[in-house]
Amino acid sequence: MNMFSSPAEVIAVVPAAGIGSRMQATCPKQYLTIGQQTLLEHSIARLFSHPAIKQVIVALSPDDAQFASLPLARDPRVLSVTGGDTRAESVLAGLRAAQGASWVLVHDAARPCLHADDLARLLQVRETSHVGGILAAPVRDTMKRGEPGIAAVAHTVEREDLWHALTPQFFPHQLLTACLTRALAEGATITDEASALEYCGYHPLLVSGRSDNIKVTRPEDLALAAFYLTQIQLKE
Ligand code: CTP
Ligand code: MG
Repeated sequence: MNMFSSPAEVIAVVPAAGIGSRMQATCPKQYLTIGQQTLLEHSIARLFSHPAIKQVIVALSPDDAQFASLPLARDPRVLSVTGGDTRAESVLAGLRAAQGASWVLVHDAARPCLHADDLARLLQVRETSHVGGILAAPVRDTMKRGEPGIAAVAHTVEREDLWHALTPQFFPHQLLTACLTRALAEGATITDEASALEYCGYHPLLVSGRSDNIKVTRPEDLALAAFYLTQIQLKE
C-alpha cells in the first residue's frame, strides 16, 4: 500500500537521534521540556499545524530511552525509525521509510519555534522549483573570517548574500534520497539537506524565514525558545 500517494500530502522526516553535546544537559536536548511538552513534541506539533503534513517519521538513537513513554509514540500519524551516527544518516533512514512520498520535508527535532506562515510559504516551493528549497534567514551581523587557529581577524566577509540555513527544508523525495546517498558514499561534508543537493550540482531556493526559528543548541537557547513559543501560542 502506498500511503503517500496524494500529491498534496507531504511526509516529514524529523532527525532526533543526536545526543545534544553542546547543550550539556542530562538528557538529549530533544527531550528537554518547555511547559508540559518536550522539544520533540513541540517541533512535531508545529509540523502538524499544516494540513498537508499527514505523517511524521522520527529518526531515533538506538539508545533512545524516552520516545516510547511519550504520547507521540502511540500517534498513528507518527512512525519511528532508527537513526544513524550523523544527522545525514538519520535523515536517510527516515527517507527510506518514506518510500512513495513525492515531496519530503525535513525538520530538526530541536527547532520548536516554527511559525505556520513560514511553513506554508516553504511548502509553496513545490509550485516554483523542481529541486526544492529551504527556510533561511539573512545574516544580520558583520561577519569576520578568523586566521586559522588564531583568534584574530583575517578579513570581513561580505554579508550581502549570506544566509543562515534553517529548517524545515523541502525537496522531492527521490532527488533528496539520491543526493544524500551519493554525498555520503563519496565522503562529502553534509550538515543539512541542501548541502547534499549542492554537492550534486543543484541550487535549492532560499525562502526567507523568521530568525526566531532557532535550533536549541546551547543552554542559553532554552529560555529564548520558551519565549518564542509563547509568542506563537498567543498568535494562533
Ligand atoms: N541528529 C540526528 N542524528 C545524529 C545527530 C543529530 O538525528 N546522529 C539530529 C539531532 O537530534 C537534532 C538535529 O539532528 O534534532 C540537529 O542536530 P544538532 O543540533 O547538531 O543536534 P545534536 O547533534 O544532538 O547536538 P550536538 O551537535 O550539540 O551534539
Ligand atoms: Mg550535532
